[in-house]
Amino acid sequence: MAITITLGIQKGGCGKSTTTGILSYLLSRDGYRVLAIDMDSQGNLTELLSEQPSNEFVGKSVLEAMQHGNINDYIVPIGENLDLLPANNFLATFPRWIYTGITYTGDSIPFSGIPSLILDHCLDEVRDEYDFIVIDTPPSLSEQTTNALCASEYVVVLFECSNWCYSAIPNFMDSVIGANQHGNRDTKVIGILRTMNDVRRNDAKAFNEMIEEDYPDEVFKKIITRKAPVGRLALYGFSDNSELKQALEQYEGFYKELINRVERK
Ligand SMILES: Nc1ncnc2c1ncn2[C@@H]1O[C@H](COP(=O)(O)OP(=O)(O)OP(=O)(O)O)[C@@H](O)[C@H]1O
Ligand SMILES: [Mg+2]
Repeated sequence: MAITITLGIQKGGCGKSTTTGILSYLLSRDGYRVLAIDMDSQGNLTELLSEQPSNEFVGKSVLEAMQHGNINDYIVPIGENLDLLPANNFLATFPRWIYTGITYTGDSIPFSGIPSLILDHCLDEVRDEYDFIVIDTPPSLSEQTTNALCASEYVVVLFECSNWCYSAIPNFMDSVIGANQHGNRDTKVIGILRTMNDVRRNDAKAFNEMIEEDYPDEVFKKIITRKAPVGRLALYGFSDNSELKQALEQYEGFYKELINRVERK
């Protein structure tokens, strides 16, 4: 039975999609069977893993899987142990469909279940086929995010060391508690990952320390710094990238800590 992990924070540009892509890649590299799910209409994880424009997946995405069921029809093979459930801009119409029953194509598919448990139910069909399901989320506490949280046992919170990300953390933690109470997966934070650090900035250092004081048990020891090869993953991807080793280097430590925590629980 797969362990499902959501990566999130309702602040933009904190490294969610990059970290989700890298984590999916590292798990699959080590022989785990992985399904990566893009729950963000920006489709960044989709483009990172598939190396195709997210518009290629219009009509063939996580949105249709949630509306029609039969999730297997929408899963795209990426590598030996890695599959993707892609997203594109139309995922932004997910809330409208939930509350009106009308899809973005104008079709009527009435919905009468619990809005935040749609993805969770959808995944029941494939949980036995994977060791890990890893979900990327948008920078908002939207239906896409609540569905991801309610479908997950564990949540990695991304903390980009800035004031606005610092103020996003308490509400995000509350949303995880909400998912724990309203969902069926005993959703819990497994850790807070400090990302996008600029080592030259004292304010970044201060925010790193503040978050460690606030959440001493949650923060991962490894701190991810800003590095050009990580940024360029969005350009070169994983399959033919001469600087892949440099891009992955600092994530290996986070990955080890995460696996240790999952194994301990
Ligand atoms: N460690 C890093 N070093 C350098 N660049 C990075 C690093 N991590 C991410 N980036 C780049 O920073 C930008 C934001 O990262 P990413 O898209 O992963 O964040 P996000 O939290 O998913 O954003 P959004 O909230 O828009 O979904 C991207 O251009 C990405 O390539
Ligand atoms: Mg993203």
